[in-house]
Amino acid sequence: MLIRKMFPEDIDIVVDQELEVFGSTLGTKMLNYELTVNQYAHYFVLEDDELIIGYIGLWCVFEKGQITNFYIMPDYRGKRLGEKFLKFALEYFMEQGTRVISLEVRESNKAAINLYHKFGFAAGGIRKNYYEDGENALLMIKEI
Ligand SMILES: CC(C)(COP(=O)(O)OP(=O)(O)OC[C@H]1O[C@@H](n2cnc3c(N)ncnc32)[C@H](O)[C@@H]1OP(=O)(O)O)[C@@H](O)C(=O)NCCC(=O)NCCS
Repeated sequence: MLIRKMFPEDIDIVVDQELEVFGSTLGTKMLNYELTVNQYAHYFVLEDDELIIGYIGLWCVFEKGQITNFYIMPDYRGKRLGEKFLKFALEYFMEQGTRVISLEVRESNKAAINLYHKFGFAAGGIRKNYYEDGENALLMIKEI
C-alpha cells in the first residue's frame, strides 16, 4: 500500500470512484482547481499495486484544517486501511501546523462516525439539510 499526492492524471478515476461510493462527485473542474490552483488544498490517494483504492482531501488554512472528502473503495474496507489513511492525514495536518480539524459526515454514516470517534473527533453540532437529499450532517471536530 502506498499513500501519495494526487495528480491531475488521477482525476478521472477518482471521479468514477466518488460516483460509485457517494453517488455524487466534486467533479473534474473542481478537482482540477483543487489540485492546480487552491494552495490550501492537499489531496492524497491510497494505492494498491498502482491501483487507486482510496482518496482523501484536506484543506489546511493556517491553524484550521478540514477533511473535505474521504473514501476507501468497498472491496478494500474492513482491513484497517481507513485508519491508516486517517492516521496519515492527522500527521500531515500536524506537520502543517493545524490546531483544529473539522469535517461533516452524514448522520446515518455509522462506519465513518465510529472511525472518527476512534481518532478523537467529537460531535460539534448538526447542519440541517446539509446534503442534496435533505439528510443532516454531523459536524465533527478534533483539536490536535
Ligand atoms: C468510513 C471508511 C473510510 C472506513 O474505512 P475502512 O478501511 O473500512 O475502516 P477500517 O477497517 O480502518 O476501520 C476502522 C474503524 O472504523 C469503524 N468502522 C469501519 N467500518 C465500520 C462498519 N462497517 N461499521 C461500524 N464501524 C465501522 C470502526 O470504528 C473501525 O474500528 P474497529 O474495527 O476497531 O471498531 C469506509 O467505510 C468508506 O470509505 N465509506 C464510504 C465513504 C465515507 O463514508 N467516507 C467518509 C465521508 S465523511
